[in-house]
Amino acid sequence: MTPSTLAPSTSDSSVQANAGILATIDGDAPSESRPRKSVFSSKLGFVLAAAGSAVGLGNVWRFPYFAATYGGGTFLFAYLLIALTFGIMLLIAEVAIGRATGHGPVAAFRQLDRRFTSVGVLAMLVPAIIFPFYSVIGGWVTRYAFVFLTGGAAAAAETGAFGAFTSQTWGPIGWLAVFILATAVLVARGINKGIERINLITMPIFIVMLLGLAIYTLTLPGGTEGLRHFLLPDFSELSANTFIAATRQSFFSLSLASGVMVAYGSYMKKSASIEKAAFQIGVFDTTASIIAGLLVIPAVVAIMGIDGLGQGAGLLFATLPHVFASMPGGAIVGAIFFVLMLGAAVTSSISMLEVVVNSLMDRAKWSRLKATVVTSVGGFLFGLPVTLGFGVWSNVRLGGRDILGMMNFLTDTVMMPLVGLGTVLVVGWVIGPQRIIAAVHQDGQLFRTEKMFVVLIKWVGPALLTGLVATSFLMAFGVITL
Ligand code: PFF
Repeated sequence: MTPSTLAPSTSDSSVQANAGILATIDGDAPSESRPRKSVFSSKLGFVLAAAGSAVGLGNVWRFPYFAATYGGGTFLFAYLLIALTFGIMLLIAEVAIGRATGHGPVAAFRQLDRRFTSVGVLAMLVPAIIFPFYSVIGGWVTRYAFVFLTGGAAAAAETGAFGAFTSQTWGPIGWLAVFILATAVLVARGINKGIERINLITMPIFIVMLLGLAIYTLTLPGGTEGLRHFLLPDFSELSANTFIAATRQSFFSLSLASGVMVAYGSYMKKSASIEKAAFQIGVFDTTASIIAGLLVIPAVVAIMGIDGLGQGAGLLFATLPHVFASMPGGAIVGAIFFVLMLGAAVTSSISMLEVVVNSLMDRAKWSRLKATVVTSVGGFLFGLPVTLGFGVWSNVRLGGRDILGMMNFLTDTVMMPLVGLGTVLVVGWVIGPQRIIAAVHQDGQLFRTEKMFVVLIKWVGPALLTGLVATSFLMAFGVITL
């Protein structure tokens, strides 16, 4: 480690550097550029925490069911195209906005251009809405980890076991509370201590384990048919809807348009390369999704046949216990799997809570503890209707969707594309890409994909996201259904 990576985060030099870069952003006086209190203690710290936010239930639970629902290989094709190009460029933009301004989303967007403050506010509301339903699914993971650890693997693999659990009232509420409590404790402890260490240990093990399980699943009868479905695109099936679904999923999976990457960027060391970090995170997250798809889709086809792909949000939970039941030592493997998945889920939920908590600390001058308690209790209360939506409220429909579906729609189809659009417009057309490019170049860092950045942020992004926002409004008002 070089001395600079060991230097205390709030050293004068980092204050000055932040002030300097701010001047290149909008000419604000350096005194406005109060940098964040805690900076990640190493260059790796930012990448680990941001990758921890990115990799989570979105990869293992959500990506496979999106792929199953939106055409397997066709979806995968659209997903790779969007996540690895536009997704990574937007990630660069968000991290650069955070680091250059030294602020979370609300103050950062205000500083870029006052007229865009609402984009920052909307960005902050995204994790506030995702957190409750994410925690419901996180609660299911916690429960499965517990069941496998306490010898319940065989019962979990019985047909209908998953639906029987989620339709209960009190059980899932209890697990929701446990998951939120775990997140809240880590957020209350503060960013350096909580996040970095967990990620460093759990991430690599989890990915290797997913890969091992994927290879095992392919040996099951029917596994290769599932593999073909997941990998081979049918271009005649490619439609606007495939790209919309791919964009929604890439925003969710990369934690974009939710203030998280802006907030984490504001903690990033100035000596680290934003471009390198964004590519590392983007490629790592996409790899995790592909490996999860290689595991879950063949498993579904092997266990339930091709029709099993249509089950939506329960896909992972209804399938994997069967895979574990079929393998020698499966109870132990299953226990490790769910514990690691819980780790991945918690590092993502931490990031959601952290954004909201930090804004409350900054704006309302609340203590970290108070902000954490209030937001996590709020998250729990909003999680209640979601979990009841799988049981006693299962026939409640909001705009034709169940409660989880509605919160999903609100965030990934309405709010995130709006925030994304606001971001590409402010960067591409209001302050101009050169300002962000200068921030990426700070300390002589390279920006190899600079040209691609300009094209994607200035032209492709606005076109793609205007289309998405327009479509989502037409959907919301029932003019079209996709
Ligand atoms: N990226 C996370 C995942 O894939 O599980 C989910 C997520 C985290 C979404 C943070 C939004 C967010 F602000």
